[in-house]
Amino acid sequence: MSVDAYERFWMWIAGLLITVFLGAILLTTGLQAVHPPSHIETIDPTTLADDREFGKPGVTVREDGSAVVVVVAQLFSFSPDPIEVPLGKPVTFRLTSADVIHGFEIVGTNANAMVVPGYVSQFTVTFERAGEYVIACNEFCGVGHHMMTGKVVVKKALP
Ligand code: CUA
Repeated sequence: MSVDAYERFWMWIAGLLITVFLGAILLTTGLQAVHPPSHIETIDPTTLADDREFGKPGVTVREDGSAVVVVVAQLFSFSPDPIEVPLGKPVTFRLTSADVIHGFEIVGTNANAMVVPGYVSQFTVTFERAGEYVIACNEFCGVGHHMMTGKVVVKKALP
């Protein structure tokens, strides 16, 4: 089979691009702990207020010092806000939305998840630096999207 030189050139370019893109995915997965969502858990967004867990969003510290943070996102805020979490211990975030799709990105960390109504997003992160972190909604959710922020406060000792 003979392939025109010009066509062969673009086949190599296309192959190279695919290799670069796949390589970028694998590299960020390995080096920056980027991972696809894997936690599939459903919830009825219309009855969140009565839910045992999401009816009372907040932070629970376990005996070993790790924490679970239950967060409800809604137009245009996160509850609770601010979120106080312990330093140097695994913090598991459990998120859901009461209305539309929101984002939950803790700026300056690799904590970043979509918050989808009907689903619980979950991830665990350990903060190595005390202080305040901004939470940004990074999914366009409406006219107040750009104002939808929250705060995570990482503290050495929680009360
Ligand atoms: Cu919530 Cu954008």
